[in-house]
Amino acid sequence: MQNGIIILAAGQGTRMKSQLPKVLHKVGGKPMVEHLIDLAENIDAKPIVIYGHQGEKLQNTFANRDITWVYQDKQLGTGHAVLQTIEHLQDDLIYFILVGDAPLIRQETLLSLSKTAENTGIAVLTVHINNPFGYGRIVRHTDGYVEKIVEQKDANDNEKSITEINSGVFAICGDLLKILLPKIGNKNAQNEYYLTDIVALANAEGNYVSAYVIDDMTEVLGCNNKVQLAQLERIYQQRQAEQLMINGATLADPNRIDIRGKVSVGNDCFIDVNCIFEGEVTLGDNVVVEANCIIKNTTIGYGTYIKSHTVIEDSVIGEQADIGPFARIRPKTHLANQAKIGNFVETKNAKIASGAKVNHLSYIGDAVVGEKVNVGAGTITCNYDGANKHQTIIGDNAFIGSNTALVAPVHIGENVTVAAGSTITKNVDANMLTIARSRQTDIENWQRPVKKK
Ligand code: UD1
Ligand code: CA
Repeated sequence: MQNGIIILAAGQGTRMKSQLPKVLHKVGGKPMVEHLIDLAENIDAKPIVIYGHQGEKLQNTFANRDITWVYQDKQLGTGHAVLQTIEHLQDDLIYFILVGDAPLIRQETLLSLSKTAENTGIAVLTVHINNPFGYGRIVRHTDGYVEKIVEQKDANDNEKSITEINSGVFAICGDLLKILLPKIGNKNAQNEYYLTDIVALANAEGNYVSAYVIDDMTEVLGCNNKVQLAQLERIYQQRQAEQLMINGATLADPNRIDIRGKVSVGNDCFIDVNCIFEGEVTLGDNVVVEANCIIKNTTIGYGTYIKSHTVIEDSVIGEQADIGPFARIRPKTHLANQAKIGNFVETKNAKIASGAKVNHLSYIGDAVVGEKVNVGAGTITCNYDGANKHQTIIGDNAFIGSNTALVAPVHIGENVTVAAGSTITKNVDANMLTIARSRQTDIENWQRPVKKK
């Protein structure tokens, strides 16, 4: 059966002590609720998001996503929240009910829960924990089906001793949910409309309620403050690190890597400590990333070596290239195979062909650098005239002497040699030696100035 998803996100999250709605706080670089929105997209279910406080912030964040927004004016309880969605519910979908501040639920778990719900029409996701205090308890019939869920504040001593708890996640058929929601009342210790009452109500309708029990409590952990947010982050990162290792990467320390996006790795990659990956990053086989690198939206080819403290963004790096330490590769850098970028070099919108070397202290922006070009230390492409950007083209096998300023637009031909310290303002034809600096003058018997009395 097809699925729908209902996400509860109306809570204010006062304990986060933040201007930001709770569900917009990030885990793995992505708002908590977006993890669930993405999950919905993965399983082809259009999410219904119940919002309350600061709805515009939420809606603006996801303006380009296909979401049904439902407003809950007053937070009268989880049952009241879901009731607000009733006019959007379709009879023939199995709905997952999720909470927006519990982003770590796995897709496989939800699909298993949905399978369980196919038989009975309703299933609750449960877990056994040592200290169930605060959670709703799962009360079972002798035949194993679930009779009811009792909240902590309503539980008697017998019920309090139950260690199987309600995770808060349900799968339920749309038609059944539509029947049950309006029947939820608020006669309980908190005078709240409890969603959990749908279990007893389903039983009263002659419906069985099944449970799907998971082992891993971390899947359903929620977040009420920044301590818990940090805990969710670590659990998320641990999962990412494990997946990378399973996919063939060696991590110097799986506790010291942060993935805020998607990373795919080839075999035998090695990643040293304290690296951050953002957006979509692809590392080919045998790529090495030394300590303290930040790599964002970049593809890196086979055998390339990234030395420590390198920052790479929105770029494509070829095979067996060599970058860093302390290099800054800015957007639209295209580094071909076996190219080499050394320390304190910045590149931007630059196509650097195979075998080219920019080894020390340079800025290469809006440039095309040919094969096997050697760019000497301190070379700068002067790409900006204060108003517009201009291009520098350097032909194959050119040798650019140290401390050269290439004033764009300018074209250096193939095999050209540029003398060190030159300021090049005109195009240079192939095979030339070009010198653009004043000739050295040596003055005899020079007296240094003396300090006035
Ligand atoms: C709920 C369950 C409990 C379960 C626990 C798991 C109920 C009555 N109890 O308790 O059985 O063990 O989750 O974590 O459902 N929300 C709204 N609108 C509201 C009320 C709540 O959007 O009117 C949202 C909150 O922002 C929160 C979520 O629903 O994200 C859960 O609500 P909360 O009141 O915290 O329920 P719990 O007491 O945790
Ligand atoms: Ca809660």
